[in-house]
Amino acid sequence: MDLYLNGKTAVVTGASQGFGRAITKELATEGVKVFATARNEDLLDSLKAEIRKAGGIEPVTFIQDFVAADAPEKIAAAALSSLGQVDILVNNAGRSRPLDVIGSEEEWAASMTLDFDRHRQLTQQLLPQFMERKQGSILNITSTYELKMINASAVAKAAIVVWSKQLSGQLGRYGIRVNSLQPGLIDTENIRRFFTAEQRKEHAEREIPLGDFGEAQDIANMAAFLVSPRAKYITGTVAVVDGGGRHYAF
Ligand SMILES: NC(=O)c1ccc[n+]([C@@H]2O[C@H](COP(=O)([O-])OP(=O)(O)OC[C@H]3O[C@@H](n4cnc5c(N)ncnc54)[C@H](OP(=O)(O)O)[C@@H]3O)[C@@H](O)[C@H]2O)c1
Repeated sequence: MDLYLNGKTAVVTGASQGFGRAITKELATEGVKVFATARNEDLLDSLKAEIRKAGGIEPVTFIQDFVAADAPEKIAAAALSSLGQVDILVNNAGRSRPLDVIGSEEEWAASMTLDFDRHRQLTQQLLPQFMERKQGSILNITSTYELKMINASAVAKAAIVVWSKQLSGQLGRYGIRVNSLQPGLIDTENIRRFFTAEQRKEHAEREIPLGDFGEAQDIANMAAFLVSPRAKYITGTVAVVDGGGRHYAF
């Protein structure tokens, strides 16, 4: 199926590994010029080489700590200057942050900054050009809502879902779509540190109908569809990619 993505431009945060890397590669091989940002220069360089080898459009890479207060402004300015215009924004950078029931203020603030505020701020930096051009697709990568432990990142991601819905209500009239993608347990560095191979197997057999953790490519497949013109009537929704792991139908 042609996703009609060829010739479009995109900004992807957290592009060095995991979902962001897989999404960047998928979009690039669909003919999208991606502005790929993260902190790890070596990984971003290897991503460029990997995409070149796969015959995709070589991404522009930009080294930036997303936590820095001026990161949204710098990323938006550099992306607009190198791409000319931005058609697609994938808000993905982040990290899981399990905390004790009484977590420190520093940890809570750090998570809300990285996993909520910076995404909102980067989006706000790019919104004027989306609105002026009366087009755009924004995809927010979120998290599960069914944890029975404290994870500050999942709380920040829940805030993203509510904000994302509100934004979609305001931006539809400009032809701008805003969606969220909720991953279940996907095999990336972010998750590997919490499960041994044996724990993964045991957990997946007990909790995931499809029997294993997903792969970053599973997220990239859904992401590429959601940001593409094929999804032109989809906005304000949350797409779940979790092997059936959610307990509730709604
Ligand atoms: N994997 C899962 O099962 C799962 C489940 C639920 C939610 N999520 C969420 O999905 C998103 C992607 O997760 P993943 O599994 O792909 O994680 P990952 O493999 O650890 O990748 C995280 C990405 O975010 C970037 N990042 C983290 N902190 C950053 C910072 N301060 N500045 C700039 N970039 C930063 C990292 O780049 P650098 O280190 O190079 O900066 C990396 O590219 C995260 O928000 C995560 O919380 C994942």
